[in-house]
Amino acid sequence: MDTPIYDFLKQYSESGTVRFHMPGHKGRCPHPALSAISAYDLTEIEGADSLFEADGIIEQAERNASVLFRTQETMFLTGGSTLGIQTMLSSVLHPGDAVIAARNAHRAFINTCALLDLSVCWVLPNSRDAFGVSGAISPESLEAAFAQCPDAKAVYVTSPDYMGWMSDIEALSAVCRRHGVPLLVDNAHGAHLAFGTKNRHPIALGASMCCDSAHKTLPVFTGGAYVHTAPGFFVTKQEMRKNASLFGSTSPSYLIMMSLDLCNDYLERHANADFAALEKKVRSVREACAEAGFLPQEGICDDTKITLDASHVGMSGGELADHFRSHGIECEYAGERHVVFMVSPQNPDSDFECFLSAVRAVQKRFVHTAETVCFALPAAVMAPRTAMFSKKECVPIESAVGRIAAETRISCPPGVPVIVAGEKIDDTTQKILKNSGVSSINVVK
Ligand SMILES: Cc1ncc(COP(=O)(O)O)c(C=O)c1O
Repeated sequence: MDTPIYDFLKQYSESGTVRFHMPGHKGRCPHPALSAISAYDLTEIEGADSLFEADGIIEQAERNASVLFRTQETMFLTGGSTLGIQTMLSSVLHPGDAVIAARNAHRAFINTCALLDLSVCWVLPNSRDAFGVSGAISPESLEAAFAQCPDAKAVYVTSPDYMGWMSDIEALSAVCRRHGVPLLVDNAHGAHLAFGTKNRHPIALGASMCCDSAHKTLPVFTGGAYVHTAPGFFVTKQEMRKNASLFGSTSPSYLIMMSLDLCNDYLERHANADFAALEKKVRSVREACAEAGFLPQEGICDDTKITLDASHVGMSGGELADHFRSHGIECEYAGERHVVFMVSPQNPDSDFECFLSAVRAVQKRFVHTAETVCFALPAAVMAPRTAMFSKKECVPIESAVGRIAAETRISCPPGVPVIVAGEKIDDTTQKILKNSGVSSINVVK
């Protein structure tokens, strides 16, 4: 596949043109770790196009990605899925609108709702973790949410979530179609789903719009992401760009865009075979984990995540992560109970062998005493925007019960809100926050 951004940057870096333009390093970063790559780090000079008004090399690379992902439009982002979430919500919703959202939402969703003055009708996932926050959304619970919130203008689902659990997007999109409401998917962890043995990407399964953090599962630099629309969806590329520019920097990184452009070539030539092979490897790793005493993950799981419940072998998440560290492996996340490992085709076979020997060396214990507190949705008594921008005071967590949170506190699993600004702190919330090491919280004054 052609790589117009890379080709331009390469040609410019070799041209010897005198750089009287940004960035200040002039393509010659003094440190050896940066010197080679800095030659490719440019700004919007003649011929380099401009992300938010693209009609040249960036537009061409985005069109290539659109063909690969089978979308109506695909836009590159250098601000991660955080910018993708901001773009989706501002493209589809208006101030005062209500959105039905699964609670396993990333904080970027809540912050954007506050900025855009959206109200949220929460749906709890079918509990798959100790807190009942991570997991899948069922079509039945989505139907029930429509009954509670008939005026909702969109549905927002996170799938796969941070722990790797996936919702049945096809079934959820059928529910949304029946209600005439767009389905927006935070697919931050699922850029690879368009590749492998089956296309499980949200756009292929009926979502109206989604964002993918390419950097999380594909060979792309940190911050590289896509926002996609489905064929026939009403949001135009012009609108996506205008809305993305409300939140994004006017200096998007050309190194990140180059990595997205080069990733197109990787996706076309290698991704199907690579991800099909990864599925097989992960299947055999999961079997080895089951033999070592870890109960298998239930439901639809993403193959770039191996999530282990440490309590199955009588350990805490921290102890299990330390065990893997002693075998030279660093995980993505270790919580009170779960440890998440992220794998990709860029992990060589030796990484999997190392993982397997660490799994086989786990000494199963018989008691696990960690207290788990099940999540219950706190009462929402104020709009997130009103609470977030109100006068606030910081109180110790011990005296927070009964107060209205003026901030969103994220606990386990990471990125998932235990309390959202505008919700009343109750005993359960207080306990979960305390267990997660939170000692104080901002509340509405
Ligand atoms: C579910 C989910 N959505 C969105 C994001 C934000 O993505 P990014 O870091 O690419 O901005 C994250 C980050 O971890 C995430 O886990």
